[in-house]
Amino acid sequence: MHTKSFRIDRYISQQLGINRRDIKLMLAQGRVVINGEIIVEVTTMVAEFDRVECDGKVLQNKTPLYIMLNKPTGVVSATKDDQHTTVVDLLEGYSRAELESLHIVGRLDLNTSGLLLLTNDSAWSRKLMSPQAKVHKVYQVELANDLNEDYSLAFAKGMYFSYEDITTQPAELKILSNNVAEVVLTEGKYHQIKRMFGRFRNPVLALHRSAVGHLCLDPLLKPGQSRRLTPKEVNAI
Ligand code: URA
Repeated sequence: MHTKSFRIDRYISQQLGINRRDIKLMLAQGRVVINGEIIVEVTTMVAEFDRVECDGKVLQNKTPLYIMLNKPTGVVSATKDDQHTTVVDLLEGYSRAELESLHIVGRLDLNTSGLLLLTNDSAWSRKLMSPQAKVHKVYQVELANDLNEDYSLAFAKGMYFSYEDITTQPAELKILSNNVAEVVLTEGKYHQIKRMFGRFRNPVLALHRSAVGHLCLDPLLKPGQSRRLTPKEVNAI
């Protein structure tokens, strides 16, 4: 459903360094098994979460994993870091192999908190992050100075960033109180929210992501806590 696929001969050739002619023979001899079934056709496709065995050796047996974390500030959105605690360091109850298979779906800055998604399903994360999908990301922002309607107009119009030579997609800004706003982005450029408020010389004091698409941060998760997504949540994206 959410998986990327390879032809079995290409897959085995990459995994075991065997040439395609020998793989054809292996298949004909019934030595390749996918999800418990002997496969003979070279054109059979292997998806990311299929169990693949060759001569009884398991080449692949991954279970899809989808996690939401309430990221605290001060933790890096990376899977490995020599100096800082990473978001993966916060996850509990997973095997080393599971943790090593994960990647982050849409990073948050070191001092940003809130909803962070991790998965080992690259097709799922690609779908979520694709610019065409325009998945909404909802942020609460506390500013140093007061807001006014000029902000909403500027966010809705888009801002030109010369460094990347892009104009930001229309974004929604709702003023919640004098210096607190809710911002909805459909993209995720580098430090986007801080840079957009930077245009008004209004420093961001606190930034928190509360939703990505239909997925809202579970209010039961304290900062640093995580849980698996339900199948319904996975499919809602
Ligand atoms: N915009 C930012 O500036 N930082 C984030 O972490 C997310 C959006």
